[in-house]
Amino acid sequence: MTKLLEVNNLSISFTQYVQGLNRHDSKVISDLTIDIDESEIVAVLGSSGSGKSLLAHSILGILPYNSNVTGEIKYKGEVLNQGLKEKLRGKEICLIPQSVNFLDPLMKVSEQAIGECKDDKEHDEKKIRQREIFNRYGLDESVDDLYPFELSGGMARKVLLSTALIGNPSLLIADEPTPGLDKKSVEETIEDIKNLKEHNKGILLITHEIDVALKTADRIAIFYSGYVIEINTAENFKNTDNILHPYSKALIDSLPRNGFKLTEGVQPLDEVSGCPYYENCPIRLDKCENNIPKLINHDGIMIRCFKYEEANDES
Ligand SMILES: Nc1ncnc2c1ncn2[C@@H]1O[C@H](COP(=O)(O)OP(=O)(O)OP(=O)(O)O)[C@@H](O)[C@H]1O
Ligand SMILES: [Mg+2]
Repeated sequence: MTKLLEVNNLSISFTQYVQGLNRHDSKVISDLTIDIDESEIVAVLGSSGSGKSLLAHSILGILPYNSNVTGEIKYKGEVLNQGLKEKLRGKEICLIPQSVNFLDPLMKVSEQAIGECKDDKEHDEKKIRQREIFNRYGLDESVDDLYPFELSGGMARKVLLSTALIGNPSLLIADEPTPGLDKKSVEETIEDIKNLKEHNKGILLITHEIDVALKTADRIAIFYSGYVIEINTAENFKNTDNILHPYSKALIDSLPRNGFKLTEGVQPLDEVSGCPYYENCPIRLDKCENNIPKLINHDGIMIRCFKYEEANDES
């Protein structure tokens, strides 16, 4: 069946010039495969620098000019080329960006939330919706005429959130929508995201907050050093026995209620020749040092680990 969004074998590298003329390509996303259905919330969890925002930006077609991209992204079965990305952006596919720098500093916030309209009628309709949504997040009428520099950090986040929701997208990409928000607004954001799901929308929810992912998502994808290492159901993530990858288990063990057991080491910054988790892995095999496991389907769970590749080969 056609998925709402399919990302197949996406790799992203950046060309940089080190010390003047030495050209250097650094790979930041490797062979990434993920999909989202209608009425589905897929959360992406991973530490800082693991490539989460770049995935969002590549779907929207807003990667920086020095990026090199391979692989394929499809939306409703159609290849998303740059032209189609630009056509759908802000309409069918909306982004709640991670950074408030995405706000236009020279435009009143209500006008940027409403966005481009084909005529006055559409503008008036969207104005009503804008007011409703701003109200829901506690942004009263006096906020409408403010410019971004006049907003506090929390207000700016609420404006970004409202802007994406006014667009009424079929696919919402929410890149860290909750940090800095008060408890009530976090709950409201979660409610709004769930509500979109009830209306057949698909949501890619990028977050550092494991509990937000567990409460909201149907499936959770774990990123590590530019690789997807596991995609499992949120239900399975509630019990570490049902989590396959040692890094995913460690992430869940690091939660306060599980005793803050912290993971060893940091993710590698440079490209590695083998499994990116090799250095820290408690169950590593010799071959993991110089070979990269593939993302495979193990009993319905997508996992990138030789232990499960071997288990699949044996069965
Ligand atoms: N324009 C760029 N040129 C070179 N490297 C870049 C560029 N943009 C991002 N990167 C690198 O790509 C990697 C992934 O970045 P990304 O912003 O996707 O991380 P992230 O998972 O969203 O992190 P965070 O949780 O901090 O938001 C980082 O190591 C970052 O330094
Ligand atoms: Mg990010």
